[in-house]
This record gives sequence, C-alpha cells and structure tokens, in this order.
Amino acid sequence: MSEPEPASPRVLRVVHVAAEYADVAYTGGLGEAIAGLARATARTGANVSVVIPGYERAFAALGGDTLPIGEVEVALPWGPCAFAVHRVVRDGVAIFLMREAAYFDRPHLYGDASAPYSDNAVRFAAFARAAAQVVDGADVVHLHDWHAGLVAPLLARTWSRPEPRPRIVTTAHNIAFHGAFPTSALALTGLGPDVLSVDGVLHHGRINLLKAGLQFADFLTTVSPTHAEELKTEAGGWDLAGLFRHRQRDLVGILNGTDAPREAVTPAERTARRAALCAELGVETPTGPLFALVSHLTTQKGVDLLIEVIPGLVERGAGFVVLGLGAPALTEALRSVARTSPRVAFCERFDPALAQRIYEAADVICAPSRFEPCGSSQLHAMCAGALPLARATGGLADTVKDVRDGGWGFVFGPPEAGALADACERALSLFGDDAAWQAAVDRARGVPPTWDVAAASYVALYERLLGRPGAEG
Ligand code: GLC
Repeated sequence: MSEPEPASPRVLRVVHVAAEYADVAYTGGLGEAIAGLARATARTGANVSVVIPGYERAFAALGGDTLPIGEVEVALPWGPCAFAVHRVVRDGVAIFLMREAAYFDRPHLYGDASAPYSDNAVRFAAFARAAAQVVDGADVVHLHDWHAGLVAPLLARTWSRPEPRPRIVTTAHNIAFHGAFPTSALALTGLGPDVLSVDGVLHHGRINLLKAGLQFADFLTTVSPTHAEELKTEAGGWDLAGLFRHRQRDLVGILNGTDAPREAVTPAERTARRAALCAELGVETPTGPLFALVSHLTTQKGVDLLIEVIPGLVERGAGFVVLGLGAPALTEALRSVARTSPRVAFCERFDPALAQRIYEAADVICAPSRFEPCGSSQLHAMCAGALPLARATGGLADTVKDVRDGGWGFVFGPPEAGALADACERALSLFGDDAAWQAAVDRARGVPPTWDVAAASYVALYERLLGRPGAEG
C-alpha cells in the first residue's frame, strides 16, 4: 500500500506504524518524532507511508481531505472487526488512517488523565493487526512503541507471500509503557499459543506488546545514544535490560531532530517577548529569568521536583510558566502554586502554538526528567533562544552541556530537588551577566540536529538491513 508507485525498484519503501503523528493526532514528543522522521525520510527521495489509528480528531485535523480506499478485517474472539482505510498525502508522506469508530472515535488517544481506556489491549491489538495488512510492498516496516509492537510477530511469524518479508525496525520511545496484558489477551493478537514463551511475547507471565515489537524485530533503535546504553542497565532498562543486552549488536541510539525555526534573537527582543507572554498569561513580568516547563506532567518528567523549587525561585525574582496535561496529583499542586503566586502561570492544556511562544519568550526551559529517551522541549527551546536546564539523563545528556564546561545550559545529576535547586541557582546568577547569557544562547541554537540529519542515519540503517550495495556501516 506504499504510494505513489515507486519510480524505480531502488526507491526505498518505508512504512511506519505508530499511535501518533504530529499535527494530525498527537500528545507530545512521540508524534513529533514520527512526523519529523517520516517527512525528512520522504525528502531523501524514499517512498514513505505512516499507518495510524483513524482517531476522530485525525479526520478533523485533516479537514476532509482523506479518501476511503478500502477495508481490512480483523477477527476478534466475539466476531469480525472492520477497519475502513483512509488515505491522504501530507508533506510527501502517505498517511493511512485505520478507522474503527467504536475504538477510536473517543475524546482522547489513550485515556484521560486518571486512567487509560480499559479496552486498550483490544484497541491497539486490533489496530496493529489491521496495520499489518497494509504494509504490502514495503522494504522496511518501522514500528514505534508498544502500540505497534504486535506487527513484528505478525509479520515475522505469519509472512507467506512470495516476495521477501520486509525488514522490521522497532523504536523504543518510551520504555516505561509496555502494553502488558493478561495472557487471556492472546485471543486478541491473531498469534498462536507458541508465542507464549519468554522467547516470544511473554514477560513476567503477561503478554507484553512492547517486548513483542522488540523480540521479533530485525533491528532495534531508540532516540538517543545515551539512552541506548541506559536500556542495557538494570536501572534504565525497565525490566527489559536482559533483552536489550542480548540484542545489543542490533541496537542503536539515533538522536531525534527538530525542524523548529532557528532564529537569532537579541536580548532586547527577548525582553519584549517575555513581557508580552506574561501579559498574555496574566502574570507579572519577572525581574529575574522566566523559567518554563512544557511537558507531560508526570513524575517521569520530574514535575514533582520542580513543584518543590518553584516557590524559592519566585521569591528570588524569577517567573514560572507551566504548560501541559498530566497526573491529577501534580496538576492539583501546580494549580495551587499558580493561585498563590502572581508570577506563576499554569496552562493546563496541550497547545503546540503556545508551546512555541513559550520557547521564544522564556529564558530557561526545564527538563528535570528522571529518565528521558530524547526529550523534545529542550531541542525546540534551544533553537528559539532559551537555555535548557536538564538532568543528565538519556537524550538530555546528549544535547545539553553545562555552561561551566563551555556549554549552553544548566545540568544536574541526582534526581533530587536540592540538585535541581542548585542548577536553578546557577541560572539565576548567570542571568545577571548579559554577555555570557547571550553567548550561551548563541551556542545553543546550533546544537539540535535537524530531522534531515536523523533521517540520513535511519536511511543508512534501512539500506544496511536490506543488504543494499553502497549502504554505510
Ligand atoms: C517519548 C520519550 C521522549 C522522546 C519522544 C520522541 O515521548 O519520552 O524522550 O523525545 O518519545 O522520541
């Protein structure tokens, strides 16, 4: 189903399968990464498709441009489930939306802030089984996170066509989410009981769809070199370290890119933008730096640590803006901080346009994550002229270097409020030195790779897996 028809047999045909795609249906970095990679891969001349669930909001975002092109059926234990396949081309990428209203016409992609949808095993198993039926002609099927994981054993175990099976690449974006379900979910998967082993999809007595994607893929990637190393450690492998160690020769970390605009801004322009943003959000413009957090609001992201340090920062003259949705305990605490401080704004929503205005107006973008495979807000912020304040983990460690070491940000180690507060303190004192601050801003801008850079690494990997002459590495 890759389209349009390849001009020559040498045109690389890649089909991504994922739960999100930026600007169409997404909740954050995952959707941005898939869209950034797919669009940049298409720019290399490859034929690129993306298969995502046909969420109601995806159709709304695409404004009626999608065309129904067929139907695929998945046999569920209680009867057949029909997905209508819709197609549209955007930015050189063919987007396939797999529509099944009962599962995907919902207000959220995965569930609301308090809980995932109780039928997510059915929703994403059915989606993956439908997706596995529309990868005809692909050279490479590239799967992302647990939602797409089932495609790997479906292709690896049941391929029966005369042409060679596509190479399978699985990327782990967020290892904390496994898609683990009771073994009774086997009936949803379209697989036989032979996969119910530790060499198959079984993990600690449950069916694990992330493991399915990793175990049956030809190659594994994650989204930064440091995170690829972390995945092999007990502390960083989220219970799958053994698998990553076992497959370490088939594992690479490729840093995500960003296509955010890179604009040189003068200190005067930033001062004006800071004031305008504070006015827009109805908070006092700080005399000190404006700190910001644009993130899913979870303990993974270290939001609890940040909540502890905000009052102290505000007392020292700083301002604070938080944008995002997340765990009720954290959002409640943020609401209460914002209520009591005239220099703290909490915007409880997903709003990419406001996120960009924040990157362009804030002085410091915080990423105090406990773990972070890549992270996207620090990349966007650095392009826009804010300095990152980050914990040294995963992709943050690969993209943020401390100003003390000639870098462009503020880095801390232990995931503790004290260490975070020290890093904030250093930001407060550097803020007093206009020249040093501006020099760091100028260094930061060139650091994040573009998606073209990341896509070139993926294309080299695909070509190598296909054994094509001229492939690098
Ligand atoms: C996940 C990770 C994040 C990464 C994103 C895109 O959301 O948590 O670190 O940037 O995927 O790869």
